[in-house]
Amino acid sequence: RLLIVDFGSQVTQLIARRLRELNVYCEIHPFQAVTDALLDEMAPKAVILSGGPASVPDAGSPRPPQRVFELGVPVLGICYGQQVMMQMLGGEVLRGDGTAEFGRAFVSPTDTPSELLAGWFDGGREQVWMSHGDHVSRLAPGFEVCGTSPGAPFAITADLARNFYAVQFHPEVHHTPNGRAFLANFLRVAGFTGDWTMEAYRDEAVRRIREEVGKAKVICALSGGVDSSVTAALIHEAIGDQLTCVFVDHGLLRLNEAEEVVAMFRDHMNLQVIHAQEQDLFLGALEGVSDPEVKRKTIGKLFIDVFQKYADEIEGARFLAQGTLYPDVIESVSFAGGPSVTIKSHHNVGGLPEKMGLKLVEPLRELFKDEVRALGRELGLPASFIGRHPFPGPGLAIRCPGEITREKLEILRKADAVYIDQIRKHGLYDEIWQAFVAILPVRTVGVMGDGRTYDFACALRAVTSVDGMTADYYPFTHEFLGETATRIINEVRGINRVTYDVTSKPPGTIEWE
Ligand code: XMP
Repeated sequence: RLLIVDFGSQVTQLIARRLRELNVYCEIHPFQAVTDALLDEMAPKAVILSGGPASVPDAGSPRPPQRVFELGVPVLGICYGQQVMMQMLGGEVLRGDGTAEFGRAFVSPTDTPSELLAGWFDGGREQVWMSHGDHVSRLAPGFEVCGTSPGAPFAITADLARNFYAVQFHPEVHHTPNGRAFLANFLRVAGFTGDWTMEAYRDEAVRRIREEVGKAKVICALSGGVDSSVTAALIHEAIGDQLTCVFVDHGLLRLNEAEEVVAMFRDHMNLQVIHAQEQDLFLGALEGVSDPEVKRKTIGKLFIDVFQKYADEIEGARFLAQGTLYPDVIESVSFAGGPSVTIKSHHNVGGLPEKMGLKLVEPLRELFKDEVRALGRELGLPASFIGRHPFPGPGLAIRCPGEITREKLEILRKADAVYIDQIRKHGLYDEIWQAFVAILPVRTVGVMGDGRTYDFACALRAVTSVDGMTADYYPFTHEFLGETATRIINEVRGINRVTYDVTSKPPGTIEWE
């Protein structure tokens, strides 16, 4: 395996991501945690030193242990990693004095060939992405320059005898188009064959969960979404019935959703699942509430109360499992010299771990969404679960603008089911990031048969997106929209008008509230 020493760059996680794409197993450790003992225990086959916001000339700026360079394995330093490497091996780094370089740059080759540059420079020069203020001013003994850019004379350097490589640019980002080939070359030089798979990751994750949890009990808030489902399945594989899941049914779920989730995990996968039927509690508290923020806060607070109530009944629970993903994790590495690493994570059940004295176990912390899906497939979760559209915590409450009533929820559930059925029938489900119906707080006049109707209008929403941060409305055909409107009005009593929401995000949001 390969060790990535994290000096706090915003893009360190992308290094791991690229290596996993190349089927190589790696672990990221914050620099404070990289001790001689860790190096001995891990015995990495190669080391990558990441970028970071610190400045090498500053007193107390972070360093890896000197031992990294004595392991006899290939080392690649990126940006800050390059600079710290040069400084520690006898070169020199100067503080930026107007020589900062951010963004796209072009690197040209020198006469020194390097295996890392196989496949590079076919077009003469290579586009790379730079982001640095300081720069290397003198190379350490043994290093040669293999590539240079106008702003970074030492853009690519190598000590070929020791297999040390140090680059100023970031090969891990998309803006370095040939960066992947560069990293692949480094892995080849380091002797990796690229035989690591999601199956291996699963075994490794299971081993780590067992080690972390021991004989203790773990509780998990299961929502049926991809992240919590994969978390629960993975932990169950590791520790079996030491895990108990709590599925909170707040009465704001989609048609048959609660039954499907509980059946799948309890009956099909043999997990211990508590089905917390708290519909009355939530819907009661939401009575008369139409302000979106009050809705969200009411639901969020009740969720924590309810979860705690059920969790309290599970004797001896010491861990809370959470489906935190890599993009949710903002790691801020402390440079003050203190040993602590502050990790801010995205708490789905915010504040609970402290309140209940529970430790967190977050086995998906290193993964991206599509990797979580791959892991879910590996764990045998059905494709229909893994490919599900996101569904927000407050559920249908935020798809029911205005006051929430049981009648409106009932109508909304039926309309949503017809809409999703249409999308699946037309083979569009996987092309769409998220699709749902919102029931509007207006009644409109219609005519059906010979009679007048006075029923609710609804809006269909469907968007494409990469991460939910920005989105475009999905360009359904007119035929699809017409057919869907007809079906909803015919099959769902209570709706007599269907509209399609063609707002992108921004300026709209995906949800209506
Ligand atoms: P918006 O509506 O802000 O939504 O464009 C972006 C994505 O986030 C989901 N979403 C939520 N998910 N709790 C969640 O777990 C929430 O309170 C919440 N609000 C929005 C939304 O469904 C979309 O995928």
